Amino acid sequence: MLHGKRILITAGPTYERIDPVRFIGNFSSGKMGFALAEACAEHGAEVLLVAGPVQLSVTHRNIRRIDVVSAAEMYETVMEHFATCDGAILCAAVADFTPLTVADTKLKRGTDTLTLNLKPTKDIAAALGACKRNDQFLVGFALETDNEEQHALDKLRRKNFDFIVLNSLNDSHACFGYDTNKITVLTAAGERVAYPLKSKTEVAADIVRQIENIVAK
Ligand code: C5P
Repeated sequence: MLHGKRILITAGPTYERIDPVRFIGNFSSGKMGFALAEACAEHGAEVLLVAGPVQLSVTHRNIRRIDVVSAAEMYETVMEHFATCDGAILCAAVADFTPLTVADTKLKRGTDTLTLNLKPTKDIAAALGACKRNDQFLVGFALETDNEEQHALDKLRRKNFDFIVLNSLNDSHACFGYDTNKITVLTAAGERVAYPLKSKTEVAADIVRQIENIVAK
C-alpha cells in the first residue's frame, strides 16, 4: 500500500507557443498518467497530478491537480513540489524543443517557406534525477521507435530513475490515444519484466505494484 506517501505525477503533452493562436504539441492523451494518478490514490497515496492540456478529469478526492501548458511551466511546478514528495512518476510527453521567440501577432501566410528557430527545453526528469534524495523514488517513461531497450536503459541511467517503463510505437494499440498499453519495465537493479497488452487501468496497477516494491525496501 502507499498510505502516507505523497506522489507527484506528470501527464499529458505540453504545448509550446509559436504565436497567439498556434503551438507545437504532440499526440499524448494523458490517459496513462491519469490512470496512474487514480491507481496511486486507490492504493492510499496523496497524489499531485501536474497535467498538460488534456481532455480528462480526475475522480479520486486524494488527487490534487495542477494544470500547466508549456514545458517551462511544467518544470517550474514540478521543481516547486518535488522536495515535499516521496517520489515522482514522469509520464508526460514533454516537448524537447520550444520556439526561441514567440510572435506577438499571428504569423501571416506568405509564398516563402517559414523557418522556426527552436531551443531545447529543460529536462524535468534529469533535473529531478540530479536532486533525488535516497528516500525518494523516480519513475520515467520511454517511448521509442528503434533500439527500444538500449535507448530506455540509457535514459534510466542518465536520468537516475529507479525504473523506466518502456512502450514502443511498434506495438499496435499501445501508446498515444489508445485505452490499452503494452509495457516493459526495466529497473536500475537490472530486472526486466515484459507485460502483455492490457488496459491502461491494469497497466497502472502493474506500475503501482512495482512502486510498492521500491517503497517497501
Ligand atoms: O528523453 P525522453 O524525453 O524520451 O525521456 C522520457 C522521460 O523523460 C519521460 O519520463 C518524460 O516524462 C521525461 N521528460 C521530462 N522532461 C523533459 C523530457 C522528458 O521529464 N523535458
